[in-house]
Amino acid sequence: MTAPTESTSDCLGCEASEPSAGNYFVSSYPPFSCWNKEQLAAVPAAFGTPRSDAVEIPLGLYLHVPFCAERCHYCYYRSYDRPTHEQTDHYIDVLLNELASYARMPAVAGRPVDFVYFGGGTPSLLTTDQIQRLFDGVQQQFSFDAVREVTFECAPQSATTDRLRVLRDVGVTRISMGVQQLNDEVLRKSGRIHRVEHVERAWERVEPLGFPVVNLDLMVGLVGETDESFFRSLERIIAMEPPSVTIYLLEIPPNTPLFHALQKQQIEQLPAPWNIKRDRMRRAFEQLEQSGYAIRSAYAAVREPDLCRFVYQDAQYHGADLLGVGVSSFSYFGGVHYQNQASLDRYLLSVSDHGHARARAYQLADDERMVREFVLQLKLGKISADYFQKKFGISVAQHFAAPLEECEKRGWLKVDDCGVALTRDGLLRVDRLIPRFYLPEHQDKTYW
Ligand SMILES: C[S@@+](CC[C@H](N)C(=O)[O-])C[C@H]1O[C@@H](n2cnc3c(N)ncnc32)[C@H](O)[C@@H]1O
Ligand code: SF4
Repeated sequence: MTAPTESTSDCLGCEASEPSAGNYFVSSYPPFSCWNKEQLAAVPAAFGTPRSDAVEIPLGLYLHVPFCAERCHYCYYRSYDRPTHEQTDHYIDVLLNELASYARMPAVAGRPVDFVYFGGGTPSLLTTDQIQRLFDGVQQQFSFDAVREVTFECAPQSATTDRLRVLRDVGVTRISMGVQQLNDEVLRKSGRIHRVEHVERAWERVEPLGFPVVNLDLMVGLVGETDESFFRSLERIIAMEPPSVTIYLLEIPPNTPLFHALQKQQIEQLPAPWNIKRDRMRRAFEQLEQSGYAIRSAYAAVREPDLCRFVYQDAQYHGADLLGVGVSSFSYFGGVHYQNQASLDRYLLSVSDHGHARARAYQLADDERMVREFVLQLKLGKISADYFQKKFGISVAQHFAAPLEECEKRGWLKVDDCGVALTRDGLLRVDRLIPRFYLPEHQDKTYW
């Protein structure tokens, strides 16, 4: 069945129609549907020889913890609910074994780590002992001496004082907590297990511990959301004064329970269409700005831009190596993308048999690396002409003349000698305009 579409004639420069369901967020280039088993052969070569440019290229680690208390209806991340203690313990062992097999590789060994990200799922479901064991295991293999940022994803109820203290003591610098919205009815309809009071209590626990950055994730467009519920929710968030607020437009990819409920028409209320979501997002950004926040990307607002960096994101958008471990994790190393097995059983088996669990890959040519950085940096709202001239020897204005001209005419960006600056309209729909900058052979590729 095809995804329902909506009329978008009144939205902020949308296409003729924009599907309500399907993928939206562009996290990589070329699209995942181009990655395949055949190109896995490129991965050992990328790790096998020491990198001559390794001093300049930051190295980041991503560790995926695929467990949640319950699955939320909208969520597209790989996770399994209600794990037992034995399952999480075993998973940590395997994760550390997988990491060890990469740590010894010539292109990795001895390189300083720039940033680390523990994502999920819900890493804060691990016990304090498991968190300690996980960090000890990672730090036995990689020195954190040069690390600029360590992020740990939490959910409100499992962000207990005991866990937060351990996280602070092992060197976490950035807590990212999934709040989504501060309205009990909306949270219930999304299958979230927390309620407003849990978020407020979690904030009281995390705030005094002095993490350099605490980010709260919100979503716009959830089932049951109204203008009133969303903006009341935002007001409560702003009153808490978190250093960083990220807002994601709800997307409904095929791997979510919400997608299936929509297809079967088993849903009490339809989620908001894109024009309403973008309008709420635009007004949310305005309210955040009026409250002293600066917009740092298409999704995030921060209180103090100089202190509130997001190294994990910025480094990747500028071509850093990312070594990802865990089920379904993504990596980008030496110009090769790859993804691990997406099922937990296959992942566990593969690591025990081979030391790794790579399932599909894509080796980027030089022009693809350039386009990758260009489209990812667009999400930050600006492109530096100088950066692309120095790194890739191209003039962005000339190289992307046709799509830039089209986007400029539609009011989504401006081009000048310094580079490209997205307008607010452009920033609010950046993931839709990005594919215009793809190489011709990727223009018609589905994202997944
Ligand atoms: C791994 S979760 C964050 C940590 C924790 N699992 C939690 O939810 O509290 C990452 C974030 O992705 C966002 N997200 C998940 N599914 C989404 C979807 N379908 N559309 C937009 N954002 C989504 C949510 O804001 C969520 O907080
Ligand atoms: S949003 Fe977070 S808690 Fe909910 S299913 Fe996804 S990863 Fe788990």
